[in-house]
Amino acid sequence: MMLNTHIIGLGAYLPERILSNVELSTMVETSDEWIRERTGIKQRHIIAKAQHTSDLAVAAAQQALDDAGISIDDIDALVVATTTPDMIFPSTASIVQYKLGGKGFPAWDIQAVCSGFVYALAQVDGMMKSGMFKRVLLIGAESMSRIVDWTDRNTCVLFGDGSGAVVLEAKDKNIQGGMVGSVLHCDGSYRHLLMAEHQYNGNAPGEMSDFRVDAAGVAAIEMKGNEVFRVAVTKLGEVVGEVLDKYHLKQSDVDWLVPHQANIRILKSTAKKMKMTEDRMVVTVGEHANTSSASVPLALHHLYKQNKLEVGQLLLLEAFAGGFAWGANLVRWSKS
Ligand code: COA
Repeated sequence: MMLNTHIIGLGAYLPERILSNVELSTMVETSDEWIRERTGIKQRHIIAKAQHTSDLAVAAAQQALDDAGISIDDIDALVVATTTPDMIFPSTASIVQYKLGGKGFPAWDIQAVCSGFVYALAQVDGMMKSGMFKRVLLIGAESMSRIVDWTDRNTCVLFGDGSGAVVLEAKDKNIQGGMVGSVLHCDGSYRHLLMAEHQYNGNAPGEMSDFRVDAAGVAAIEMKGNEVFRVAVTKLGEVVGEVLDKYHLKQSDVDWLVPHQANIRILKSTAKKMKMTEDRMVVTVGEHANTSSASVPLALHHLYKQNKLEVGQLLLLEAFAGGFAWGANLVRWSKS
């Protein structure tokens, strides 16, 4: 039997603590006005001291399972896209499996930073179409606040914490809707423009240390913001065209643009490129800031909760990330 992958449940979680631009401007030299104007961000959620990324993941995952009307026992595989794992190992996915009360089925993490969910969805879709798994729990979860240098105004204003999850089910290909397909890219020659180095016994690879801002010796995000911005706008403009061409679809076929939420100006530029009016694009960056791999599933969940999705509509998910790694997925909505 030929198979296709369908989204049958969605969930989301944002930590309680909200950090507003105004509060942030008491911590570093910035202003609400600057942050809103340059990024569209108004606030971000921050993980509690006692919480880990796996806790955020579990909250979203449980909601997605409930939404699908199934339990963890019905799941065949669990994937967590994250850049901020609880530990170097074991994987956050193993910890999430345990916390959800699952056992036995495979669980693994994917690391493609802000493109993690888009990468993971492409990977899992391929595995499900091949018949390897019937139901997969796919989560994007991040505690970016843990790898932000809170003295660096260039980066700390941009990120937030949260998680989003989907339950995927393989169904007969003749059933209408489901995943159309994906394209993924990476170009490691840009790796030094956006990164967080690990300190293995203090022996950090020297090659990428020329613009370190973090003196404390802990991994922290370092970024050449305006260069990232420039490449992101170009590559996202290209990838949305590429994924549509690949599956013989047109810009006008897309009902909803579900972009990674990094900066409102990047989002608007992609919408413009696609000749889409902004009311067909999901915007959560104002409330969530950049939640890395959680951002696309959080945006998707936001759209779902607004009851705006209709069966048969075409969704274009896209993301751009450190690496640089970027990609896009096309989904024909099938959940009523
Ligand atoms: N508050 C006030 N001023 C700030 C600031 C802040 N939080 N952060 C930076 N600035 C200052 C800079 O120091 C610079 O000052 P200078 O000209 O005196 O040196 C000035 O603002 C302009 O900096 P620039 O980097 O040119 O601004 P920008 O218009 O490119 O906006 C970003 C900065 C970071 C918002 C923007 O480049 C961006 O969004 N880049 C992409 C980031 C991203 O998406 N990363 C994740 C990808 S997944």
